[in-house]
Amino acid sequence: MAILITGGAGYIGAHICVELLHEGYDIVVVDNFSTSNLEGLNRVKYITGKSFKVYNLDITDSDKIRQLFSKESIDSVIHLAGYKSVSESTATPLKYYANNIAGTITLCEVMQEFGVKRLVFSSSATVYAPSNHDGPISEDHPLGAINPYGQTKEIIEGILRNLYLSDQTWSIRILRYFNPVGAHESGQIGENPKGIPNNLMPYIAKVAGGELPVLSVYGSDYPTKDGTGIRDYIHVVDLARGHLHALKAAEASEEIDMFNLGTGRGYSVLEMVEAFERASGRSVPYILAPRRKGDTAICYADVSKAKKKLGWEAKKGINQMCHDAWQWDRRKHGSGSAGTVLLLP
Ligand code: WQD
Repeated sequence: MAILITGGAGYIGAHICVELLHEGYDIVVVDNFSTSNLEGLNRVKYITGKSFKVYNLDITDSDKIRQLFSKESIDSVIHLAGYKSVSESTATPLKYYANNIAGTITLCEVMQEFGVKRLVFSSSATVYAPSNHDGPISEDHPLGAINPYGQTKEIIEGILRNLYLSDQTWSIRILRYFNPVGAHESGQIGENPKGIPNNLMPYIAKVAGGELPVLSVYGSDYPTKDGTGIRDYIHVVDLARGHLHALKAAEASEEIDMFNLGTGRGYSVLEMVEAFERASGRSVPYILAPRRKGDTAICYADVSKAKKKLGWEAKKGINQMCHDAWQWDRRKHGSGSAGTVLLLP
């Protein structure tokens, strides 16, 4: 029996593959490689010494997904596949609704046909409604995504809740990511956004590495300690381990539940700049720029529920996040591949 990981070739997916393989699970990866490539999965094989099957297909293709389920013996699904850029979703909302929502519906329909009813779903803190609340956000915080990307995650969460209510033999865990950053300690896998990064950490890394001249700090007049935005950055390996704990919870009991995956601590943009300069030994020049549309001042997680019900908490601190991100950025075109994984049509 294997765990199917949709979107497993991506930044977060590859780190989840590593953790599941280390834990002794058999995995099967599905990816359409629209925002990733096979090299990351070859590096997963290199890191773990384990092989696994990879299907190059789109989760909206029900025939292909059905063929996969008929060929492979799937026990549970970790569903990550989906577009994830807030700015892109605002420019092309239909692409996001069609891919993220329709893809999930197709996946769940085929899972139901084959009696596979264990699902861990990749959601996001962007499902939460903006608020002036400057404390930690719990899972009970009101929902109210303000961009199409976050709305797809909110809509999918509602679909999964109704699916469970229609058939309570489903076992579903929904994971709301805060801000994943960093890279595997090996320096073999990490975040590799195409073009100019939207997100803070990869942008800072490119400035530190001299690939970009200066960081624009979006907003210095927020009601925070230094006026810049505060976020809950979580090491991607901690995030991956959160999926392992959620999978085991889904194996243990049939219910639906949702969990914040964060550290419970917020850092400002300027604190991230300082931490990265310490980790890299490089300077990160910046300019203070106007606020970015759609940004909130403060967003960090109440992580008590995941600790209590999943037995999981983030362990890596901001210095490790920056160190590992910097090491990956220096090595990303680097070495090491123990051959290639089996890529199936
Ligand atoms: C972090 C902080 C910016 C870039 C996004 C998505 C969210 C999730 C994580 C998918 C903010 C500031 C950023 C820059 C800056 N992705 N910033 N200069 O917006 O909190 O969350 O990524 O699930 O859905 O919304 O992350 O890294 O873009 O911004 O000053 O060049 O850094 O204003 O305060 P964000 P981010």
